[in-house]
Amino acid sequence: MLLTVENLSYTYMPGTPFEVKALKNINLEIPRGEYLAIIGQTGSGKSTLVQHLNGLLKPTKGRVLLEGEDIYQRKSGLKDLRQRVGLLFQFPEQQLFEETVFADVAFGPKNMGLDEAEIKRRVEKALTLVGLPLDVAQRSPFSLSGGQMRRVAMAGVLAMQPDVLILDEPAAGLDPRGKTEIFDQIDRLHQEENLTVVLVSHSMEDVAVRAKHLLVLGDGEVKHYGTPAEVFTDAAELEQLGLALPQMALLMHRLRQSGKDVPTDVFTVAAARDAILRMLEVQ
Ligand SMILES: Nc1ncnc2c1ncn2[C@@H]1O[C@H](COP(=O)(O)OP(=O)(O)O)[C@@H](O)[C@H]1O
Ligand SMILES: [Mg+2]
Repeated sequence: MLLTVENLSYTYMPGTPFEVKALKNINLEIPRGEYLAIIGQTGSGKSTLVQHLNGLLKPTKGRVLLEGEDIYQRKSGLKDLRQRVGLLFQFPEQQLFEETVFADVAFGPKNMGLDEAEIKRRVEKALTLVGLPLDVAQRSPFSLSGGQMRRVAMAGVLAMQPDVLILDEPAAGLDPRGKTEIFDQIDRLHQEENLTVVLVSHSMEDVAVRAKHLLVLGDGEVKHYGTPAEVFTDAAELEQLGLALPQMALLMHRLRQSGKDVPTDVFTVAAARDAILRMLEVQ
């Protein structure tokens, strides 16, 4: 197993009047090649959970394992962990700080002690992977658009060649087009580079069609886990958790409720059209 979360609980500011039990006994397995979406309303514990995966937060209780080893007991240490478990924060463009795009993307590989030639190779590969032309390398990151800056930040994580890429609300604040672009980019990385992906989102609509598995968090607890189709069988409960089903899944649920024989794992307009046409042919 690539990553394992065992009985993880986390409390912010324990023993003070401001104490928050942010995570309660979370168990989770992330195999290599996974595309996991962690979803839940604001405040449900998504960011707290992913920050445990690369050792930014230390469990109050429980453990996180990388390939079966407690991340705090690995000989290669936390620096190696953070290279292997790449985490892209929410609004990552706020963390760009170097004078050039090249220097920003090179920051991680440099820290790893790689030689100049390898650093250059990695920076160029990472920029290509996120769909940026190589001539941005010498520009200031601050001269780029918001969407491009976000790609630079993503390239900075990819340049470390992590085993798993974790993205915390990567589409937050982007317009619909920028949003689709960034999600398509992530899908390509998963498919073509065989990258294990953990995607944090508060929107079912955005992730249902992409992820292999969904982990639904509510109030610091795992409320559901399974394939999107499995998780969507309980539409009413998801709505209670403030998570609207994707529109097309909702349509399929309504059709089933009225006795129509349609599949439940339908998340796109095209798939809904096909399902409805098939249903009409059968009748
Ligand atoms: N640095 C912090 N100090 C205190 N409480 C925090 C901190 N960060 C998050 N919390 C609280 O922990 C809970 C989970 O937050 P978070 O993991 O950020 O949720 P999400 O990412 O799903 O919005 C919330 O109640 C939030 O207010
Ligand atoms: Mg968050």
